[in-house]
Amino acid sequence: MEEILRCEKISKVFVVKDFLGINRRKVTALNNVSIRVNKGIDLGVVGESGSGKTTLAKVLLLLVRPDSGSVYYRNNDITGLGDSKLVFFRNKVRIIFQNPYKSLNPRSTIEKTLREAIPSRRVNPEMIETALTQTGLPSDYKNRYPHQMSGGERQRVAIARAIAGNPECVVADEPTGNLDATTEVNILKLLDGLRKNLGLTFVFITHNLKIVVDFCERIVVMYQGNIVEEGSVEQILKSPLHPYTKILWNPSSITSIREEKYKDFDGCVFLARCPYRKKICFEHHPVLKEKEKKHLVSCFLYEQEKMV
Ligand SMILES: Nc1ncnc2c1ncn2[C@@H]1O[C@H](COP(=O)(O)OP(=O)(O)OP(=O)(O)O)[C@@H](O)[C@H]1O
Ligand code: SF4
Ligand SMILES: [Mg+2]
Repeated sequence: MEEILRCEKISKVFVVKDFLGINRRKVTALNNVSIRVNKGIDLGVVGESGSGKTTLAKVLLLLVRPDSGSVYYRNNDITGLGDSKLVFFRNKVRIIFQNPYKSLNPRSTIEKTLREAIPSRRVNPEMIETALTQTGLPSDYKNRYPHQMSGGERQRVAIARAIAGNPECVVADEPTGNLDATTEVNILKLLDGLRKNLGLTFVFITHNLKIVVDFCERIVVMYQGNIVEEGSVEQILKSPLHPYTKILWNPSSITSIREEKYKDFDGCVFLARCPYRKKICFEHHPVLKEKEKKHLVSCFLYEQEKMV
């Protein structure tokens, strides 16, 4: 399999101040996260708000530097490279940011935004018009500003910006977030057409497991900065293993209420919400392990010999 992108054992902790700016606390956005993106195998990353999806997207592009761990592009360790040396990589692996309104400069025309996304020696007006028409926008939209467009159109511009320089991989962070149902369907169709026509590989980030099941081949499930399960779509669909993945499928199946009395234990990250917790779950953090072929889970329910 042809590997494009890989990260290994990535951890990232943010220090945040409280409301008054006096007390500081640490937030673990990513804990020992490893993923691999192979050419033509779209990878879904799913998890609820705050699970670390956007941080992972930004670390993959090295827009956020990890505290530890490494990022590899085509098997070359690029973690320590400075921004000037990452230009080639960032043209080949592009990101669609989570909020297209915030990520588009309100003072730039669409043409200027797209021009900045294409390496300077290659840029020409035709490329900008092509990127617009490939995303279903009239070419004269290049003269518009973001506020002169609908939410769906802005998302198309964000997609045009990602594909304009002819990348091989696109990390799409909630590309249908904040869109109504009809626009969401249209954007998904657009992304599907682009991957087929341009040979793109997607890392598709969303809180909606049902979307990635339709769009991707493999799925990574994240909870509080940790990968708790990873498998093929069929494995995650037909035999989800982790209690959290089961909640994502069917929120009413088991309780999803976090029990505050369990929040300070050092064990499993899912402890406070898990109806199956055992003694060992309070004391140890389960490790992500292969349960069956290429189906990984981090949960003591699948390490029977260790249960106490
Ligand atoms: N720049 C930052 N400074 C401080 N904390 C941050 C920063 N970026 C992210 N965090 C924290 O890291 C955790 C993970 O955030 P992240 O944005 O990666 O989650 P997410 O899964 O993308 O959430 P959402 O679905 O809401 O977009 C959160 O607790 C968040 O508050
Ligand atoms: S390790 Fe324990 S607490 Fe964590 S998900 Fe599995 S059973 Fe639940
Ligand atoms: Mg996010």
